[in-house]
Amino acid sequence: MRTHEVVVVGAGLAGQRAALAAVQAGRDVAIVSKLHPLRSHSGAAQGGINAAVGKEDSVDTHIYDTVKGSDYLGDQDAIEFFCREAGPTVVEMEHFGTIFSRSPDGSLARRPFGGAGFPRTIYAADRTGLALLQALWERLGTARFTLYQEWDLARIIVTGGRVQGIVAFDRKSGTFEGIRAKSVVIATGPAGRIYGRTTNAHSCTGDGVALAYEAGAQLKDMEFVQFHPTALLESGILITEGARGEGGILKNAAGDRFMSKYAPHVLELASRDVVSRAIWTEVQEGRGFPGGYVHLELMHLGREKIESRLQEICDFCRRFAGIDPVVEPIPVLPAQHYMMGGIGTNIRGETNIPGLYAAGEAACVSIHGANRLGGNSLLETLVFGKQAGEWAAAHAEKAPASVLTEAQIESARAPIDAWSRRTEGEDPQALRTEMQATMDRYVGIYRNEADLLEGLRRIRALRARFENVRIVDQSRIYNLNMTDALETGHMLELAEVIVVGAFTRTESRGAHSRVDYPKRDDAQWMKHTLATRTPQGPALSYAPVSYTRWEPKERVY
Ligand code: FUM
Repeated sequence: MRTHEVVVVGAGLAGQRAALAAVQAGRDVAIVSKLHPLRSHSGAAQGGINAAVGKEDSVDTHIYDTVKGSDYLGDQDAIEFFCREAGPTVVEMEHFGTIFSRSPDGSLARRPFGGAGFPRTIYAADRTGLALLQALWERLGTARFTLYQEWDLARIIVTGGRVQGIVAFDRKSGTFEGIRAKSVVIATGPAGRIYGRTTNAHSCTGDGVALAYEAGAQLKDMEFVQFHPTALLESGILITEGARGEGGILKNAAGDRFMSKYAPHVLELASRDVVSRAIWTEVQEGRGFPGGYVHLELMHLGREKIESRLQEICDFCRRFAGIDPVVEPIPVLPAQHYMMGGIGTNIRGETNIPGLYAAGEAACVSIHGANRLGGNSLLETLVFGKQAGEWAAAHAEKAPASVLTEAQIESARAPIDAWSRRTEGEDPQALRTEMQATMDRYVGIYRNEADLLEGLRRIRALRARFENVRIVDQSRIYNLNMTDALETGHMLELAEVIVVGAFTRTESRGAHSRVDYPKRDDAQWMKHTLATRTPQGPALSYAPVSYTRWEPKERVY
């Protein structure tokens, strides 16, 4: 059995930043990750990271834009903290070696992004996540820590009212391993593969969120699911908001620049929920191209600009769609992109379980409320990764030795062994595919009671079938059939929480758009949803939103 003081699960930007902070605080730290750190989904973030560093911009404007973007569900004290940390965070990452794009005068280049009052998104062409990930990994390489890679989290051990460690499955040896830890930081990133059409990598299966929920952590605001307006038609690959920031425009089949109807002041640079609904409406009302999509046009920007600032999406369009955005429009349709909800935390990353911390997309602080602004996600990973690492380290310094027994490892392994012993049962991949089709169809951009009820019925039926899941592959080494089963179970658990929350919230706010309740209802619903796991399903309770300076008002762009 291994022992560390702080275990960070997940090796993307939030996990690495948490680990660095905990190492710098003098703790013995391990990172557990199912991927090599440089393959983390943080590397898929294209467009940039927000910080109000421009002369005409201000931290207050960043705060206000984020509060407004959240449709007033974001906690204003957390947002204030977050936006104040933005400048120092970007400067720190530059000092760690991130090669950001530059303006002609040598200052950090900034591009406009949706819902932002000023060009505030600092970028490295359209590979910003990758540039940050490389720099942070190199910086972390100067620190002493242990990396367990290609390990799947199987259980978070909580006894005596506090975290005691984790159990994980080592894909390489095929063994279940226990790690004692006084503090555990969950930084496992997104859960977007709950949906079929998503910009998220196949690894984004919400493992840490589901297992924290299983261990007793409360999940917050899970009904708020962000759909990115522009994903490549067939593959769902992200076409960065930076493309619109650089001047890209959206057109329907009639050649109309339709955003003038939906956001007359800022057009394509309205917030993501607004642009996604606009595209969806155009397509549903028959103004899309045959097959159901709209065009993102970049051709007028010219080859030089497109190929220098939007290198990666040029490559994606050419390789995966066989089109050249320099000379032809890009066929796009919204796709699931980000979960505003997650493990409920405060700004220190603390959850309701002593010793359990969360950061990045796995967490919900909440700074994004009902709708996240583009460019605030990379910033969130770094600001709150650092916080979670520091506070996890402080907790570990004082906490008594953790207790984790072989019997607890055995108990985490037993159900999975049972899946392997079955001679017949459900294929996890088939269950996953049905779950994704259900979420795409019934829990999408526009929602209504009948669809959500049907979605819930189907997800619960899939959960019941999952009780009989079967692992066919009997090999020990790199048994991806087992990984698949674990991930599918996690996603089904979270899918149920999303649908129950969406069904219960009878209003429209941010990305949660109920056609049967089209108005935001501040009197009833200006509150966070908290979900606690029970044998009967999620039990919902509510928590107030924190206000500082900004009174809720109608959100128009
Ligand atoms: O469009 C994008 O480049 C995505 C950025 C983000 O989600 O923050």
